[in-house]
Amino acid sequence: MGENFYEEVSKKYRGEGRGQLSLKEVEAYLAARMPATLAATSQVLYEVSRCITEPIKSFLDLGAGPGTGLLAAREHFSSIQVATLVEKNVEMISKGKELVNAEWVGIDLKQYTPTPHDLVLFSYSLSELSKKKEILKRAWKNAQVLVVVEPGTPRGFSNILEAREWLIALGGQMIAPCPHMEKCPMKGSDWCHFSIRLDRSQEHRQLKGAKLGFEDEKYSYVAFGKGKYALARGRILRHPQKRSGHVTFKVCATDGLIEETISRKQGALYKRARKANWGDVFPPKDPTS
Ligand SMILES: C[S@@+](CC[C@H](N)C(=O)[O-])C[C@H]1O[C@@H](n2cnc3c(N)ncnc32)[C@H](O)[C@@H]1O
Repeated sequence: MGENFYEEVSKKYRGEGRGQLSLKEVEAYLAARMPATLAATSQVLYEVSRCITEPIKSFLDLGAGPGTGLLAAREHFSSIQVATLVEKNVEMISKGKELVNAEWVGIDLKQYTPTPHDLVLFSYSLSELSKKKEILKRAWKNAQVLVVVEPGTPRGFSNILEAREWLIALGGQMIAPCPHMEKCPMKGSDWCHFSIRLDRSQEHRQLKGAKLGFEDEKYSYVAFGKGKYALARGRILRHPQKRSGHVTFKVCATDGLIEETISRKQGALYKRARKANWGDVFPPKDPTS
C-alpha cells in the first residue's frame, strides 16, 4: 500500500471525498488514521469525564467506524455496560468486530432511530452526513450527554459551530470546551481547535511516507448535556508561551478572546501555569484535582 494510496484515503477523511471505503482502504484507515482519531476522541472524553457527574452506563456511537469511540470511551468511563455502535460500512463493521465487543448496527444514520443512551458520540462522522441537523436532533433527544468531535480544520470547526448553535437552540447545556453559551467569539481566519501528539508506529510512518516518529492531530469538539455543569472561566487556545518568570496564554474567556499572563509572583498558580497545556481550562487547575 503506497503513499499515494494512503493520500486517497486521507483525502476522503479530510472532507475532500465521500466515497465508501473498500476493505483495503479500511485497513489503511485502521493503520494510519485511526490512531489519531482515537487519540483525539480519548482526549475529548477525558475532558468531558472531568466535567460531568452523571453516571455513564450506556454509550452510543454514530458513525462508529471500527469502534474507535468505544475504545476511547472505555478509557474514561469504566461504568459503561451497554455499547451500541452504528456504522454503515460493512468492512468497518467486520474490522470493528475484531477490535471491540458491542452491539453493532449496520445501517445508514438517515434510517436509524436511536434509543436513549447516557453518552452519545459523533467522532469524525458528522461532517460526512447529508442530513446533519436531523440526525443530530434525533441523537440529542436520546442523549444525556452528546459529544461531537471533528477534524481541527476550518471546515471541521464550522461543523462544530453549527452543531453548537443547534444544541443551544434545543436547550443543551455546555459541558466543554466553551466557557459560555453566548455567540462564539472566533472571527476571521481563526478557528477553535486543539492538538494531541501521538506516536507513529513504523507501519504508520511507512504508510504516510513520514520521517517523524510522532504526529500532531488537530481536532475541534463540543460537548453538551442535560444536567447542570460548572463552566471554567476560560479555555486555553494555542500552546502557552512559557518564558522565564512568566507564562502567557491565549484564552477564550467569558469576556471574549483575551491574553493572560501568570508570573512567578503568583506562587502556586504559576506552578500550575508551567504545567498547563493547550486545551486545558483557565485559570490552570491541578491536573490531579
Ligand atoms: C472518519 S470515519 C470515523 C470513524 C470513527 N468514528 C473514528 O473516529 O475513527 C467516519 C465514519 O462514519 C461512517 N458514516 C458516514 N456516514 C454515515 C451514515 N450516513 N450512516 C452511518 N455511518 C456513516 C463512515 O462509514 C465512517 O466509518
